[in-house]
Amino acid sequence: MGAKNKIDYKKFYDRVGKLIGWDFSQVKVTSEEEKWDFYQEVAKRCRKSDVLLDIGTGGGERVLKIASSVLLLIGIDKSQEMIRTANKNLGKSQDFNVRFFQMDAKDILFPNEFFNVISCRHSSFYPKEVMRVLTEGGFFLTQQVSEMDKINIKRAFGRGQEFGVKDETGKRHYVKGLKRLALLKSRLLIMTLKNTIKQLKI
Ligand SMILES: C[S@@+](CC[C@H](N)C(=O)[O-])C[C@H]1O[C@@H](n2cnc3c(N)ncnc32)[C@H](O)[C@@H]1O
Repeated sequence: MGAKNKIDYKKFYDRVGKLIGWDFSQVKVTSEEEKWDFYQEVAKRCRKSDVLLDIGTGGGERVLKIASSVLLLIGIDKSQEMIRTANKNLGKSQDFNVRFFQMDAKDILFPNEFFNVISCRHSSFYPKEVMRVLTEGGFFLTQQVSEMDKINIKRAFGRGQEFGVKDETGKRHYVKGLKRLALLKSRLLIMTLKNTIKQLKI
């Protein structure tokens, strides 16, 4: 990432988390390429008796929609403000089987093989830690933003997240880390976004 793209992500997520969590439902976009709804893919792999972990949950807006698919849903996020907003969102919901914790994905404070399903949408994760807390035969699903995501807008402004980084760099990094570990005991689904925004209305 070039110097002008450098962002202090901790400050950024705390600031945005306090304002809106990670709720962009007011932004109306028409986009190309994305053919799935990530959390519906997660829900399809959950049983009612499962324990689900959502890494980098933000304000929990998206994962809360599938809370009824599992016995227990745990959402973790490094940002204190995101977790504060997630707990506010939880308070407005009818879900009694959800807990949110401020926690770094690098050091997940749960025992080995605690979760049947683990999801991670647009957040960092650490393959070794994911595999440690995932049950044998469990599912890990992640969707990450590719370097080509919204490339038309990044080209127009000459900057943006991962602008100038070769396509699939991030995916290759994660796949390499996961492959060694994941093949041993779990099922894995990695999806990468390559949206081109056609229209944007706020
Ligand atoms: C782009 S937001 C995505 C939020 C949510 N997953 C969604 O898709 O709506 C990324 C979130 O990941 C969190 N995050 C980034 N690195 C993390 C880490 N190492 N451990 C836990 N959370 C992290 C950020 O604080 C932020 O809330």
